[in-house]
Amino acid sequence: MAWEYSEKTKQIFMDAVHGKPGTHMGEIENADGFGEHGSIVCGDALRFTFRVAKDPADPLGDVITEARYLTFGCTSAIAASEALCAIIEHGRYTPVQALKITNRDIVDFLGGLPSQKIHCSVMGAEALEAAVFNWSVKRGVNLDALGVRLRMKDEDEGRIVCKCFTITEPYLRRRIRELNLRTIPEITAALKAGGACASCHHAPGGLQDLLDETWGRADTVVKDAPRPPDPVATAPAPADLSPFQFMRRVEQVIEGAIRPLLQADGGDLELVDIKDRIVYCRLAGACAGCAGAQMTLKMMVERTLKEQVDERIRVVAV
Ligand code: FES
Repeated sequence: MAWEYSEKTKQIFMDAVHGKPGTHMGEIENADGFGEHGSIVCGDALRFTFRVAKDPADPLGDVITEARYLTFGCTSAIAASEALCAIIEHGRYTPVQALKITNRDIVDFLGGLPSQKIHCSVMGAEALEAAVFNWSVKRGVNLDALGVRLRMKDEDEGRIVCKCFTITEPYLRRRIRELNLRTIPEITAALKAGGACASCHHAPGGLQDLLDETWGRADTVVKDAPRPPDPVATAPAPADLSPFQFMRRVEQVIEGAIRPLLQADGGDLELVDIKDRIVYCRLAGACAGCAGAQMTLKMMVERTLKEQVDERIRVVAV
């Protein structure tokens, strides 16, 4: 799948991967601020570090002079990380001021991002917040006393709505409102929640319920994307399946629930063979060379097949 990136995004990405002077890929040793967000298992992860010019009289006067990132992800994840570092260095922000940078600022800097890639800009803003928290601890700054309430603190606690990506209810409620997310596909594009097994979509207290409570039902349901086919609802119980029917159901779930998600990140999946309840698969595209390929097979592919076809399924990479 080819994404429609802006010329600026493409240029920033190319400059970054070629290590052009002035770009920011890397990690600052003994950084004054260190934060991470995302997970390699989920396809994107960002480590963000910054250095400050210390104000000897007042840590609140520290100014960020240097920012670096290590990003595991796609073109937009790398470009968004570059954008974050450039915005911060150019703005001469204090760490507390830097918290005002939003994912919208990152998207604007890049001249836009495909809607399915908005989560890359969100990841940068979250890693920045984690790094500022780290700086505050090192410098003895009490952010609570300053009235700076870090969102990540609220969101570490709370009911987990999307188990595949460990995303909590407070986080989802805040982000749905802040990012004006109106449908489940929009949530998945921005936050990844709902992007694997899909069982959190319409479960009680799941993504659709959160959307309904935030915006009212009529405003969210009509624009929801068609749900992937539910083979379980229409097919006989696993024990009754012939080998042919079993294979067909595995294929249906791969087509309807697994392949679109992998393709959204530039990857794909090839079904190679099925013997008893062992499904032999090969990851393709971007997923093939991914360091998290084995985890993707286990956490996403196998889990989805277990939930939608048969609990006894085991996925083996070939
Ligand atoms: S629980 Fe949300 S995608 Fe699996």
